[in-house]
Amino acid sequence: MNILVIGSGAREHALAWKIARSDLVDEVWSAPGNPGMDAIGPCFDVAADDVEALEKLTLQLEPHLVVIGPEAPLAAGLADRLRARGFDVFGPDRAAARLESSKAFSKAQMEKFGVPTAACKTVSDPETAKAYLATLDAPYVLKADGLAAGKGVVIADTLEEAAAEAEALLAGRFGPASQSLVIEEFMPGEEASIFVLTDGEGMILMPAVQDHKRAGEGDTGPNTGGMGAYVPAPVITPELAGRIRAEIAAPMIAGMADDGMTYRGVLYIGLMITPDGPKVVEFNARFGDPECQALMAGLPGDIVPGLLAAATGGVKGNEAAFEALMGLDEFCPAATVVMASQGYPGPYEKGAVIRGVDAAQEQDGVTVFQAGTDINGDGQLISAGGRVLSVTATGATLEEALMRAYSGVDAIAWPEGFCRRDIAWRVRSGMTKAG
Ligand code: AMP
Ligand code: GLY
Repeated sequence: MNILVIGSGAREHALAWKIARSDLVDEVWSAPGNPGMDAIGPCFDVAADDVEALEKLTLQLEPHLVVIGPEAPLAAGLADRLRARGFDVFGPDRAAARLESSKAFSKAQMEKFGVPTAACKTVSDPETAKAYLATLDAPYVLKADGLAAGKGVVIADTLEEAAAEAEALLAGRFGPASQSLVIEEFMPGEEASIFVLTDGEGMILMPAVQDHKRAGEGDTGPNTGGMGAYVPAPVITPELAGRIRAEIAAPMIAGMADDGMTYRGVLYIGLMITPDGPKVVEFNARFGDPECQALMAGLPGDIVPGLLAAATGGVKGNEAAFEALMGLDEFCPAATVVMASQGYPGPYEKGAVIRGVDAAQEQDGVTVFQAGTDINGDGQLISAGGRVLSVTATGATLEEALMRAYSGVDAIAWPEGFCRRDIAWRVRSGMTKAG
């Protein structure tokens, strides 16, 4: 079969790479793809948020399955369009994708289905915002309702700061995305994410991952899309995973189906492991980036049957069979280190030559997934974005995976780039014990 992957990040490179290793698959196509994905199969120059052009491309290519990587085309209804044309699609319809694209909707659904999360209120004027803030304890969490490229969350230490931030957000810091805000109580604890493949009925839980959102070591500096990840994250014990399945994933997925918004694809559960148990920080309608890179690398089996079943149904009752095909029992510890352009997530230069990617990939267990890369007129790989490479490795242990990933990083010559040297510091420092 032939599979079309939508997107151009390292997440989509990792998905295309994993899909291409399946015996079921003939060709992997990408739109728009990147130089790394181009080495796997043809890339078509259509932007990932141009849903009209993507619909046309799909009609031309007639893939057996379309896998939608990023949130923008999901929020813009690409899955709805393609399903209406009779295609099988991995990724939720627009209505279900609102679990990511509207935080107010997401919180309302959690409340309705009794899913544990921070207490909150959705507000659209500064007076109501201030009145609700006054009922909470510091620190204060304010979230733009709509998609704000991962920058829509403010954590304020004082009431004055929180009130000023509420005013600035509502005055249009993120345009329509911050016309309303979700204000919520602060949840203490350690974060991790769980990815659930679902057809809206059955559920396949993947091993827990921990991302590193801050740009600087020791979780300092500005928030980014994610600077590195490792899997499995031992903060999610098997007991906690059972609770997350029963208290969060099951009621959410069943509730969405009851509401006529059957969720097909991957549900990203961003969690805080609080003293009172696991609570939802956010849902996303797609795989995490860079979490996906580590997950795909560590998965020993075939992902394609699971993706197909999530797209077309038949997960329920067959979970164990899909888990066996994916090789979840023999999951290999994996880590990914993001190399970004210096300056990211602020302004940065593009066009610097990157050497050594092949040398990195010749090392045991190392795969380099590309994101913001391009090829210059001399055929050299150059930087073309903020997050540029995801240097990913597997190992017999998490320690080995990390050592290999950093050894891969060291093989890459790109002085204009940087990475965090402390991925998985919580495990390495003994803060959470390696499983
Ligand atoms: P979000 O975009 O909702 O994932 O929020 C971005 C980040 O803000 C999360 O990864 C958390 O680190 C933090 N955060 C969001 N909501 C809360 C909360 N209620 N309590 C504590 N931290 C939070
Ligand atoms: N790495 C966080 C995200 O994909 O949202």
